[in-house]
Order: sequence, then C-alpha cells, then structure tokens
Amino acid sequence: MSTVLPGQPMRVLSGMRPTGRLHLGHYHGVLKNWVKLQTEYECFFFVADWHALTTHYEDPQIMEESIWDMVVDWLAAGIDPGTATLFIQSRILSHAELHVLLSMVTPLSWLERVPSYKDQQAELKDRDLLTYGFLGYPLLQSADILAYRAGIVPVGEDQVAHVELTREIARRFNHLYGREPDYENRAEEAIKKMGKKNAKLYRDLRTAYLEQGNHEALDTAHALLERQKNIALGDKERLFGYLEGGGKIILPEPKALLTHAPKMPGLDGRKMSKSYNNVISLREPPVEVEKKFRTMPTDPARVHRSDPGNPDKCPVWDFHLIYSDGEKKDWVQKGCRSAKIGCLECKQVIIDAVLAELKPIQERAAELSRDPLAIKNIIADGCKRAQATAEATMAEVRDAIGLSYS
Ligand code: TRP
Ligand code: SF4
Repeated sequence: MSTVLPGQPMRVLSGMRPTGRLHLGHYHGVLKNWVKLQTEYECFFFVADWHALTTHYEDPQIMEESIWDMVVDWLAAGIDPGTATLFIQSRILSHAELHVLLSMVTPLSWLERVPSYKDQQAELKDRDLLTYGFLGYPLLQSADILAYRAGIVPVGEDQVAHVELTREIARRFNHLYGREPDYENRAEEAIKKMGKKNAKLYRDLRTAYLEQGNHEALDTAHALLERQKNIALGDKERLFGYLEGGGKIILPEPKALLTHAPKMPGLDGRKMSKSYNNVISLREPPVEVEKKFRTMPTDPARVHRSDPGNPDKCPVWDFHLIYSDGEKKDWVQKGCRSAKIGCLECKQVIIDAVLAELKPIQERAAELSRDPLAIKNIIADGCKRAQATAEATMAEVRDAIGLSYS
C-alpha cells in the first residue's frame, strides 16, 4: 500500500446513506461513476450509517436491513471488493474521534452557514432537526474524508459545500497544529534525507514557487515528494508544508469531483427519488418494470392514439434521453409529433433498455444474496483496511495536537 501524502491525489473516498434499496437514480448518478473510479484510483466506499442517524434517529430500524441490501446492490452494480475498500462508518471509531477533535476548532458560524443546514430543516419538516448531531453533520463528513486523507471526493451538487467546508477545516487544522517550534530545522534535515540530487531539485522548485509563484514547479515538487520512498511520513508532511512556506500539512485538502450524469427522471417527471414514490429499484422484478412504464403518464394532449403529441411535454421522453441513441430519438420525435407511433410502442423501447440493463445486475444480486456470510466477510475485510488507514492519520493528528502522552 502506498504512503503518498498531501494531498493524496490518488485516493478517492465517498459514502452513501443506507436508506433502503437502491434505484436507477443511484445507479446512473453514483454507482456507475464509482465503478469507473475504482479502476483508476485507490477507492474507499462506505455505508454512512451515522449520517443516516442525523436525520432518522427516531427510526433506526430501517438501517440494518438497508445496510446489507445496499452493499449487495453495490457489488451487483460492479463494485469490486478486491480493488475498492468497502466498509461501514460506525465500525471505524476514528471517524468519531476525528469529528470530536475537529469540532474543537470549528467555528459555529461555519456550520450554520452550510446551505443544506437550513434547506433540509425546511424540507424535512416532519422531523425535529434542531439537534447538535444535525448541525454537526457536515463536520462528520469532513472527518470521514480527512481520516483517509482522500484527495478526491465524488459527490452530487448538493454535497459540494460540504467538501468546501472540509477544505477550510483542513486548512485551519494545519495552521493551528502544523507548526512545530523547530519546524524549519526539521524541514531542512528532511530535505537532506532525499539525497543530494533530489534535495537540490526540491530547493530549486520551492524557490521557483515561493519567489516566482510558479505553480508548475509546485506540482513537480509534489510529484517528487510522492516518489520518495525512504522518508518518514512526518518528514513528508513537513516537506509538503515547507514547499508552500507554511507548517506541516497533516490533513490535505480534498477536491470535490462532481458527477456529471444526467438527472435520472422518475416515473412522474420529477427526479427519481424514494420520497416521491416514483422509482425503479435495481431489484425491481421485470413484470413490475413493465407495469410501471406502461402505466406511467405521457403527454396529456395524446388522449387518443391518433392525437399527435409533444415529447417535450412527456416524461417518457426523459428516459429516451438517457437510454436511446440518435436514431431512436429521431424515431420518437417524428413518430410522436405525427401520431405515427403509439405510446406503448414508444415505451417498449425504454422497457427493453431498462430490462437489459437490470438483467446482469439482478442475476449478480440474486447470487450474492444466497451467501450473506460472504457479504459480511467482504465488509469485515474492508473495515480492517479502513481501520488501518484511518488509524495512521489519527496517530499523526494526536501527535500534532499533543495528545500522544506516554
Ligand atoms: N453526506 C453524504 C450524503 O448524504 C454521504 C456522505 C457521508 C459522504 N460522508 C461522506 C459523501 C463523505 C462523500 C464523502 O449523500
Ligand atoms: Fe410520450 Fe412517446 Fe407517447 Fe410521445 S409517443 S407522448 S414521447 S410516450
């Protein structure tokens, strides 16, 4: 396993709340992206069960079943536990430890101004969200990310502000705790450990950045440091920080990776969401898929088969945008507007595409469900790896704050 440090450019982390079976919206919006990322980066994907509690503390029962169903869905969708590390948040106590430590240095105003705080309170009116846990939830997310020193956090648009907060928290933490009394001397000692040639290169690049603001030099220096195999983690942190003139970089700032998938429409034209009751779940039996599409509304102007329609006013069209190629879309546009095709014909194309997409997923899910023990083992194994990674960060964090009493 690599010990690359700031800002862990190759490590990806993301979490998902266990709130029931996954649907096509999760598949297109999140999972397909995770499947791709796992081939390019070191990935950590986790079940955010504590996060679910921040809003659903009154009904935690839904959690246990959802957790295992969700992991099965991940695997069925193509997440490879041999490549990615899969774990459950509440099993890694480092998230809680880092959360409490970060909470000491987090100004209340930073949390109060996170947009989702007021938005969600307004949206989930039936729940009492005037809790400490709910206010602190974006900070818990920061702890999730920073515990792994992840460089890349794939999220939806609603979560970008949380990654932004994480960056600010990391900066503040490094500023407060990355300063050691003999920092400069230690950094100079660490430079020497790289060997003559690399030490000179490091110094030249540092000067180019600090004196001329040369960002390319900074990138090159980062790459140089990442390649160093025989300097200790603490020294690496110093050298990353020293490049930018500051102290140690203990918690690197992550970047949000926006998922650019088109929004999955629901069966009623609104976005697909369990709370709207308009979803096709990944385990939806094929007969149900057919039934749901057949009964879904179309352009209300098409009362009779002979009435021309307008795809722009029809939620079925949104599915063609996702599933149909140019030729098919052309066929729909012309056929609908001239009443040459019927709505059932038009929907059949979508039904076929969705069934073809779901078939391999459902086959894998059925197979995985037959062996619950194997799923638990995958998670147990992932938890072990996650634990080791997070603990390495925590050791540095405790050290930096001065909590490593002996
Ligand atoms: N808050 C995210 C959501 O509600 C889930 C989440 C928790 C997460 N911790 C995370 C996502 C860390 C990315 C990184 O969807
Ligand atoms: Fe909608 Fe297709 Fe019917 Fe047109 S033909 S109204 S696009 S379902």
